[in-house]
Amino acid sequence: MNTTKGKVSYSLEDFPFLSAGHIHVWNVSTNPTDGLLERCRDALSEMELKRVPFFKFEDVRQNYIISQGILRILLGAYLNITPRDLKIGRHSKGKPFSLDDPKLCFNISNSGGLAVYGFSREGEIGIDIEHQRPLPDLEQMITKNFTSSEIKFINAKPAEKSQRFFRFWTVKESYLKAIGEGMRLPPDCLEFSIEESKIRLLSVKGVFEQEDWHFEEFSPAKNYVGTLTTMRPDLTVEQMDVSILF
Ligand SMILES: CC(C)(COP(=O)(O)OP(=O)(O)OC[C@H]1O[C@@H](n2cnc3c(N)ncnc32)[C@H](O)[C@@H]1OP(=O)(O)O)[C@@H](O)C(=O)NCCC(=O)NCCS
Repeated sequence: MNTTKGKVSYSLEDFPFLSAGHIHVWNVSTNPTDGLLERCRDALSEMELKRVPFFKFEDVRQNYIISQGILRILLGAYLNITPRDLKIGRHSKGKPFSLDDPKLCFNISNSGGLAVYGFSREGEIGIDIEHQRPLPDLEQMITKNFTSSEIKFINAKPAEKSQRFFRFWTVKESYLKAIGEGMRLPPDCLEFSIEESKIRLLSVKGVFEQEDWHFEEFSPAKNYVGTLTTMRPDLTVEQMDVSILF
């Protein structure tokens, strides 16, 4: 990796190769420290830079710069393209993809000062993380977003209620993000089961979905839960060391 005047570039030799059968997951703190903001700003496209002033609050502006900047720095390194020159498109419901190499699939998630980025050459992926935090409207959220058998599972162990809620939430979100539906499909249209850490999709209403998706839970940091949804069960997930970036 070469860093000059706040511009980040990588040679292909020192950036990890994404081999067949592997998924790379990067966990990055979005705290605007140590020149990170400048490096990320430098990675943004002209259009993204024009969007920045439209975010009303400084923390939202910074979070946008860092999460999009890191996406471009990582994508640029995988594809050996200057980050700001990358072409990122959006599918009809908002899922971003690389126009430079559509076979390099990726998905990102932000929560509570942490962003995770998943990259795969083995088909679409979805990733979602949540910072486990107290929710004043937990009961309402449970009733609104889950089916009766999911609610039974969430409520079965009162001490684990909040954790089970967030686990199920990331399972649903990561699936919705893998198929690219986002919020177009209400989460109570999906039914999942979690048994001994094995997650199964039991039913989907409202969308014809024939892929046999696979779900893997992970914890990107203390007090975080996350789920990665993939198209194959036999992929090796590699947690990448972000320190090689900066
Ligand atoms: C799109 C959606 C999935 C993003 O989830 P989120 O938790 O708000 O935010 P995350 O940080 O995890 O993910 C955001 C990223 O997902 C990606 N994304 C956006 N639309 C997407 C889509 N349709 N499919 C996949 N990924 C998408 C983008 O990279 C986005 O980042 P960006 O806005 O900075 O470009 C969300 O808005 C949504 O539609 N949620 C489903 C509705 C719901 O109520 N779910 C509850 C489950 S119990």
